[in-house]
Amino acid sequence: MQDFLQLIRKRRTIRQFKAEEIPDRVLLKVAEAGRLAPSAANLQPLEFVLVKDAEVRRKIFPCLRWAAYISPAGDPKPGHEPTAYVVILVNQEIRDKGFEYDVGAAAENIILAALAQGLGSCWLISVDREMVREILAIPDRYRIDSVIALGYPDENPVVEEFTGSVKYWKDEHGTLHVPKRKLESVVHLNRFGQRPEPEA
Ligand SMILES: Cc1cc2nc3c(=O)[nH]c(=O)nc-3n(C[C@H](O)[C@H](O)[C@H](O)COP(=O)(O)O)c2cc1C
Repeated sequence: MQDFLQLIRKRRTIRQFKAEEIPDRVLLKVAEAGRLAPSAANLQPLEFVLVKDAEVRRKIFPCLRWAAYISPAGDPKPGHEPTAYVVILVNQEIRDKGFEYDVGAAAENIILAALAQGLGSCWLISVDREMVREILAIPDRYRIDSVIALGYPDENPVVEEFTGSVKYWKDEHGTLHVPKRKLESVVHLNRFGQRPEPEA
């Protein structure tokens, strides 16, 4: 349990990756984590396109927009692009609204299963969906929801305490700082407005 909480604490969005290929068995475990996620009414409208081929990756990369607050400083540098993608699809013949909860649950499962295997990730909704549809030959009945970029991490972002701005930023060493609201500011105990004691 402790290990699992540590994994959650360790997770940060990664946008710089090593040029190291991801084995198929690792990617399949990541997709398996998506498949097994909770699903409203157990309808399971999601499908996953795993992109591993270098040529297809090269075409997908320009369809993605990275780290809007600091653009272009957050873009993966040449040679540090993702080495795989999971494209999350919604079969709209199964569910055409209310699928966002399923996507959220599957995406976080995917992100944590990737991390447990040493992979960094960036979940992206700033995606040129028309281009992705064409590149991957995705039929119209599928909505392209989002893309999870994957690869072995080549940066170490740090969490810092929120002091009024949610904007992440890069320091002079290129380290990404990610402000997070304090636990006591987002948790209410037993009734609204009653706060838990801060951890010693
Ligand atoms: C639904 C969702 C969509 C996101 N879309 C993008 C995106 O299009 N581009 C990007 O660079 N990061 C994207 N992110 C990553 C967020 O910027 C990141 O989660 C946030 O800055 C907090 O950092 P952390 O993940 O390290 O906690 C997205 C995250 C979520 C949850």
